[in-house]
Amino acid sequence: MANFLTSSIGKKFIQSVSGAFLIIFLLLHGTINFFSVLDSLSGKFGAVAADDTLFSTGDGLFKLGCDFMSTGFISIMVPVLALGFIVHIGYGIWLTIDNYKRRGGIKRYEVASKAKNDSWSAKNMAILGVLILGLLGFHLAHFWAKMQLPEMFGIGNYEDNPYTLLMATFSKWWMVALYMVWFVALFLHLEHGFWSMFQTIGWNNKKWHKRLKVTGIVVSAVIVLLFVATAVNAYVEAMAL
Ligand code: HEM
Repeated sequence: MANFLTSSIGKKFIQSVSGAFLIIFLLLHGTINFFSVLDSLSGKFGAVAADDTLFSTGDGLFKLGCDFMSTGFISIMVPVLALGFIVHIGYGIWLTIDNYKRRGGIKRYEVASKAKNDSWSAKNMAILGVLILGLLGFHLAHFWAKMQLPEMFGIGNYEDNPYTLLMATFSKWWMVALYMVWFVALFLHLEHGFWSMFQTIGWNNKKWHKRLKVTGIVVSAVIVLLFVATAVNAYVEAMAL
């Protein structure tokens, strides 16, 4: 087992499994965020019932989604999610250093002879990963540090109105632009990562090659568009105030 985890294919396998887990988190997170766009369409953007209970009928969909994220089962998943990120980042760094050492150059990600055919994303997975991680820290400071963190540890006041945070974050155009840079990096990272995941488990024959590439692009685009729509909608809502 230890040998597998440190072998080249073992490392890639762990990278794929942790990546798949993070993709599932992003689909859930993107969908709940997108509820805020549906709230705008139904006129419930900003609706937080005064009774301050979880899952109140007066709440907008986005608030209900945030309540769901604070329930027991999901809270247990927070350390698991953090572990998923740590494993993915740790093995990602290890893989990158390995490849660098073995090929003697920073430009290649997988097999040297095919490096010139690799996409820009494939060659820059590590750089994209660092960019995504850096902006994730920034993002957690905007939302998680003001909602779940104080609530979990009972420190200070936590923000109970997620619409307020949405508008506070996206009311500045340059903040929307910065998040867009993050989303583009995320798209490129996911699009290659998705395909690479299937290659690692051996689904890279001719017939499936194209299908998996297209599926990877579609899944990554859906995830990122959910985030883009949320940010743009929050900007529009903040401007209308
Ligand atoms: C428009 C874009 C986004 C919005 C509006 C948004 C909103 C939020 C909110 C409201 C929370 C706090 C949830 C809570 O404490 O209950 C949160 C947490 C978090 N976000 Fe985002 N998010 C966005 C994009 C992203 C992206 C692209 C990633 C990953 C690359 C991400 C990763 C996380 C993580 C890891 C947490 C902490 C875990 C959690 O609370 O679920 N978010 N985000």
